[in-house]
Amino acid sequence: MKKIIALTLAAIIAVSMVALFAGCGTKGETEKETLVMATNAAFPPYEYKDGDSFAGIDVEIAEKIAEKLGMELKIEDVEFGSIIGGVQTGKFDMGMAGMTVTEERKQSVNFSKTYQKAKQVVIVKEGSAIKSLDDLKDDGTMKYGVQQDTTGDIYASDTPEKGGYGEANVIRYKVGADAVQALVAGKVNAVIIDNEPAKSFVNSNKGLTILDGAWVEEEYAIAVSKENNELLEKINKALDELEKDGTIKSIVDKYIKA
Ligand code: ARG
Repeated sequence: MKKIIALTLAAIIAVSMVALFAGCGTKGETEKETLVMATNAAFPPYEYKDGDSFAGIDVEIAEKIAEKLGMELKIEDVEFGSIIGGVQTGKFDMGMAGMTVTEERKQSVNFSKTYQKAKQVVIVKEGSAIKSLDDLKDDGTMKYGVQQDTTGDIYASDTPEKGGYGEANVIRYKVGADAVQALVAGKVNAVIIDNEPAKSFVNSNKGLTILDGAWVEEEYAIAVSKENNELLEKINKALDELEKDGTIKSIVDKYIKA
């Protein structure tokens, strides 16, 4: 009897030792440094919620970058307008949100190399009196819906002399989808937004169409704090590699069908 107890004890000890070491192993692996990415996950196909998880071009590229850096990606879904400030103060390591490089934003943060070309386009209702970009007016007869703090908002709100329609003619929404719903409901005459999200919103809502041509041409890049050049260099190197080996192209092709 004593022998059996001793053997059982020995077995229990052996098993727990193995469990302990196994535990150590996994712990070591999960203790990777985190790479905190701020985004606004309401911008398909670049970033959106898929059930409880995040999906999209930016999300997948960011995962690859984190992998190359030996870090663990953590995504913070915030308002688009709070991304740059949070990157500036170091709350987030990087901002990746289909974010357009602009001279004004460059005053606050550094941008990585660009990884996507984009453009602002205009969505209207099918059969709208607005048939082309030339029909857009700044005389107060038309209201424009935009996602607040995006380049669509910034440029449309500018004065007519600077190519905008004037602040009074622009209605800002928290996310692009809300601006699109306002268009469907007839509260605005047009929505100004990035081309790929525009396609996605037009596909998921009946009776909408995108006007031919680009309202503005842009490029997307990752925002990093001006204090963190080390991270910026690492991100640029990773982007270079992911571009050269075709990873970025295959991620983009997965979400954007030609
Ligand atoms: N490209 C535009 C900008 O930088 C819109 C980006 C909006 N992104 C988003 N994830 N909601 O202002």
